[in-house]
Amino acid sequence: MPSASQTEVPAVSGPTEEPPASVTVAPKPALQAAPSATVDAPTATAVVEELDAHRPIEAARESYERVTVDQKAMINCRADLNQLVPFKYDWAWQKYLNGCANHWMPQEINMTADIALWKNPEGLSEDERIIVKRSLGFFSTADSLVANNLVLAIYRLITNPECRQYLLRQAFEEAIHTHAYQYCIESLGMDEGEIFNMYHEVPSVARKAEWALKYTREIADPAFATGTPETDQALLKNLIAYYCVLEGIFFYCGFTQILSMGRRNKMTATAEQFQYILRDESMHVNFGIDVINQIKLENAHLWDQSMQDLARDMILEGTQLEIDYARDTMPRGVLGMNATMMAEYLQFIANRRLAQIGLGEPFTGVKNPFPWMSEMMDLKKEKNFFETRVVDYQGAASLSWD
Ligand SMILES: [Fe+2]
Ligand SMILES: [Fe+2]
Repeated sequence: MPSASQTEVPAVSGPTEEPPASVTVAPKPALQAAPSATVDAPTATAVVEELDAHRPIEAARESYERVTVDQKAMINCRADLNQLVPFKYDWAWQKYLNGCANHWMPQEINMTADIALWKNPEGLSEDERIIVKRSLGFFSTADSLVANNLVLAIYRLITNPECRQYLLRQAFEEAIHTHAYQYCIESLGMDEGEIFNMYHEVPSVARKAEWALKYTREIADPAFATGTPETDQALLKNLIAYYCVLEGIFFYCGFTQILSMGRRNKMTATAEQFQYILRDESMHVNFGIDVINQIKLENAHLWDQSMQDLARDMILEGTQLEIDYARDTMPRGVLGMNATMMAEYLQFIANRRLAQIGLGEPFTGVKNPFPWMSEMMDLKKEKNFFETRVVDYQGAASLSWD
């Protein structure tokens, strides 16, 4: 019996169906025009009768099935995706609720002090101005890359309604983030063409954007489908690229620089915008890592040695690109930090990302030179689901997490 979920749309004909040939559709009347004597406009009652709105819904009944938890799966699921409950992944629903509870809008932050500081020739050093411009340049397009990847690539391939609910929330948050960057750029009176084209024109920014885009291109073709080990692994690669690397590493140099500026009482409104964004992003990363681990759990054959090696190499390559970005944006020490300290911080973050997907910590002996960043992220409130439940899942799926 075919399942309704295979097409993911109700089998009942919707309002887009063309009207029967016998119905005459009236042309749009011109404003204040008298009724045309040559057009016989049907009454609404006559149109509804012809549409037969109460036709039987046998087509839908044939494929009807109540979804059970056991039928739900992260990818390649055949159960009806329009039935949100019963939940299988409570953590996804909880993250959706937490995301909604953290709602904010960029206009709520008063930019007046930042505008005065930015426009004062003595307000910031040249190195500090580079950091503000590069950060807004990178992030203003990076969040669009993330949003497009979510909507055009990931969403239709994640076959679980509670995760899709979170993805919809995340997509809106990415729109808010792009809005926030635009709001800062406009408030500060920056050259918008210069800022929004950095991802083409500034090599250290362009390399990060191009690195991520190739993973979107791999799965965004509408003809792409999961269901083979190769295509399932392509989706997994995309999730690792975006959640572990782009949102999980590429954001961290810029976030640290701007938040450090705010801690020194400079560009405090811009820093406040970044702090709200960082809170959202830390939840995006935690959600993505839970999705990746759940896919591994349900499809252990995908997580073979070559896939593990590839995932590790992607994260290490991303870390190096972010270290290059740190060197480019900090040719000298600034704001109590420098590129060497940032490199150690990024290696510390990379260790965490690799450990979160079960790949160990390859950078030995690195410490967090910016412990205040953890408070900014409010990590204590956003526990990663798998980090607190590793033992249960290890037993259930015989996976090694070391
Ligand atoms: Fe974002
Ligand atoms: Fe994000």
